[in-house]
Amino acid sequence: MTDEFIIQMRPWFGEEEKRAICEYMDEGGFITEFKRTERFEQMIAEYTGAKYCIVVNNGTVSLTLAAMASGIQAGDEVLIPNFTMIATPNSVKMFGAVPVFVDVEPDTLCMDFELARKAITRKTKAIMLVAANGRYPKAGIAAFEALAAEYGLLLVEDAAQSLGSRYPDGRHIGRAGIVGSFSFSAPKIISTGQGGALITDDDGIAFKLRRLKDFGRTGAETISMIRSVITLSSPSFKPVLVSSR
Ligand SMILES: Cc1ncc(COP(=O)(O)O)c(C=O)c1O
Repeated sequence: MTDEFIIQMRPWFGEEEKRAICEYMDEGGFITEFKRTERFEQMIAEYTGAKYCIVVNNGTVSLTLAAMASGIQAGDEVLIPNFTMIATPNSVKMFGAVPVFVDVEPDTLCMDFELARKAITRKTKAIMLVAANGRYPKAGIAAFEALAAEYGLLLVEDAAQSLGSRYPDGRHIGRAGIVGSFSFSAPKIISTGQGGALITDDDGIAFKLRRLKDFGRTGAETISMIRSVITLSSPSFKPVLVSSR
């Protein structure tokens, strides 16, 4: 018996990451987004099959921007599973939208489909579906897409914990909604320390996301370049990419 504390996870950064950061610092770019960030976005877009990927500071800001860019406004109700990280409801509460909690299924820990249907009111604008560590609801993602279509709701996917996970139909989690969001915080599949990414196929939403994240500007971006360098050179990213082939 030992009283040594066993931590649940530990992000791993090695020599390759250290080298990549030093190389980056010699490349110009003012330690903010630069060429490697663009490459990182392209890699995620390619890997998930999305038309666009936009990286941001973290997986909370990404959800807020996703909600705003897709048209959720203050006062709108957003269905959110009652088992998630607090960032999910906070992301919409931040700008005055109202999170409405829906029970999760005990076996998938994802939003219960029938309870979601019952929670819809005239004020409901969106469903923010959370894939709990790569899981999806028993009813299937198609059932949620159909529900959203039936009631004219937006489907936004909080896939913070699910990079590398796919629905049975082959789509990467995060691709069923109008926008999908990932986090690169310390306990995630790959970590940049802090970081988030949004994927979408929608030209208008991609445009809005880029403007929203950068004060309406078109050029410089906000994620620290160092974070992207760490991720690009992380050995943990490679198996994920290799498995996509
Ligand atoms: C389901 C879920 N949504 C959102 C977030 C927020 O991501 P971040 O910590 O990068 O802001 C997390 C992170 O733990 C999460 O697990």
